[in-house]
Amino acid sequence: MKIVVLAGSPHKNGTSNTLVNEFVKGAKDKGKEVEIIDLAHIDIHPCMGCDFCGMNGNCRWQDKGNEILNKILECDVIVFASPVYYYNVSSQLKMMIDRFYAKTIKITNKNLKAAVIMTAWNNDYEFTYGVVDKYFDTLFSYMHFKDAGRIYAKGSGTVSMMPKKYYEETYKLGRNI
Ligand SMILES: Cc1cc2nc3c(=O)[nH]c(=O)nc-3n(C[C@H](O)[C@H](O)[C@H](O)COP(=O)(O)O)c2cc1C
Repeated sequence: MKIVVLAGSPHKNGTSNTLVNEFVKGAKDKGKEVEIIDLAHIDIHPCMGCDFCGMNGNCRWQDKGNEILNKILECDVIVFASPVYYYNVSSQLKMMIDRFYAKTIKITNKNLKAAVIMTAWNNDYEFTYGVVDKYFDTLFSYMHFKDAGRIYAKGSGTVSMMPKKYYEETYKLGRNI
């Protein structure tokens, strides 16, 4: 099983990437292949809506976005990892999601498994994660993704304040996915 993690935090050792590492440990313990794509530190551009791709072709940008799309087309599971930024995913992650446009039909036809790993400073669910949870419901439904689990870490503004239970939950998600 091949897993691609789209990691949308600019902090290489921040909270969401700490949980991503737990996920990877769990997945590797079960013999799964995982690749983390550090979206915040690569050459990638936002979709310009030019429609050059026609939703089923190549993107006009000659950047890493195309390589990532090819990796997604070869994987079995996609994981969306991000901090909460103003009650949404980070722009680094959203930029890659928008780039799905060039391969929407092909990605949709794969019926990929998908999971979410997110961290936030706030300690409540509805206010902090209500919007993103609905967003992923809709995105998964549109892209024909099979929901494999979501980690929404609350009270996790820094690595030191992040409750340990999230490490365990994310490790298990990686093992069982
Ligand atoms: C631009 C920005 C926006 C943020 N917006 C929110 C927010 O809306 N709600 C929240 O609880 N935390 C918010 N935070 C805090 C981060 O979600 C939190 O510190 C998270 O742990 C950072 O994850 P990272 O270490 O993986 O980058 C924000 C932080 C930044 C820098």
